[in-house]
Amino acid sequence: MKITVTGAAGYIGSHACLRLLDDGHEVHGLDNYSRSFERTVQALRRAGAGRFHFTHVELNDHVATTAALQSHPPEIVMHFAAFAVVPESVKFPLLYWRNNVGATVSLLQAMDEVDAKKLIFSSTCATYGEPAPEHIPIGEECPQRPTHAYGESKLACEHMMKAWVQSHALSDRERGVVFLRYFNVAGGDHLDRIGEDHDPETHLVPICLRAATGRHPKLIVHGNEYPTPDGTCIRDYVHVEDLVAAHIEAIKVIPRRDTLAMNVGTGVGASVLEVLRACSTAAGKQVPFAFGPRRDGDPPRLVSNPEKIFRLTNWRPARSSLESIAHSAWRWFDKQH
Ligand SMILES: NC(=O)c1ccc[n+]([C@@H]2O[C@H](COP(=O)([O-])OP(=O)(O)OC[C@H]3O[C@@H](n4cnc5c(N)ncnc54)[C@H](O)[C@@H]3O)[C@@H](O)[C@H]2O)c1
Repeated sequence: MKITVTGAAGYIGSHACLRLLDDGHEVHGLDNYSRSFERTVQALRRAGAGRFHFTHVELNDHVATTAALQSHPPEIVMHFAAFAVVPESVKFPLLYWRNNVGATVSLLQAMDEVDAKKLIFSSTCATYGEPAPEHIPIGEECPQRPTHAYGESKLACEHMMKAWVQSHALSDRERGVVFLRYFNVAGGDHLDRIGEDHDPETHLVPICLRAATGRHPKLIVHGNEYPTPDGTCIRDYVHVEDLVAAHIEAIKVIPRRDTLAMNVGTGVGASVLEVLRACSTAAGKQVPFAFGPRRDGDPPRLVSNPEKIFRLTNWRPARSSLESIAHSAWRWFDKQH
């Protein structure tokens, strides 16, 4: 298949490109390198055996985005490109509205120009905000009440895509979108060709590995008096390769004139201290840490109810144990340093 991947140089987008290339697809990556590096695209070119094409493009530039899609008309678009750092979105909300929502408007218009019908969208459990205890584990019917501009911008994209699909359906034209609402993504490629590569880094697993090797000050664990077994927050970690596998399964269930939302999480939570221990074991070095105050708006336990994706697809997490996540992240990290 011919698949366009936005955010192709980013963490999850690059792992998606790699899997699609490994499966024999023709992949066209788009990115502006605002949050990523050309070295990742070079790794994709090496893996792509001539089937990887890349366009350096700002998605907010509608003319350039349309030209990019016209150069390789896609059968499916996977839209990963976004800014995704929660505290930054609290500080600079307009940046998030412009980049995440504006770029998505531009992309949908460009898809119309080339009559591209199918889209898989990277949404997030952040669209649920801070769910009431009766909604945990979180199913797709949980009310979506985001608490920051990042979550709001992603929810706005879902709403926009719903309206886009419906407007086309009214004219008997086909558009279908799957919203995959990810939980916490971590880990790296099983062949260590790419990994999580952000600067600055804000995600727990790579920060643990940096702290273990002295490349980051000791980790501050925010709060140790939550109502959880060890007092630290519990999140649902999914291996990036499992997440990408969910996209492969999602291709098979893209509706023809509708949208479909599915959570992508394992249903099993891990605490900050459990992640920290798994990273210490993988690195063979202790992750230094200290307890700090709670952060505003950090719920004690955010875990997916994966029943819907299990029911509608053959997706099952295969690599999302903490051990597998920490080891794959460590192998790639170790290779870089
Ligand atoms: N990482 C997670 O745990 C997680 C969890 C839930 C949802 N998500 C979603 O998954 C997607 C990918 O996340 P990630 O962790 O790979 O982020 P990332 O920052 O590593 O990748 C995003 C990529 O998009 C590119 N980009 C951003 N704005 C662009 C624009 N206007 N034009 C062109 N390129 C642009 C960036 O340069 C970057 O390469 C995001 O949409 C994010 O909201 C991620």
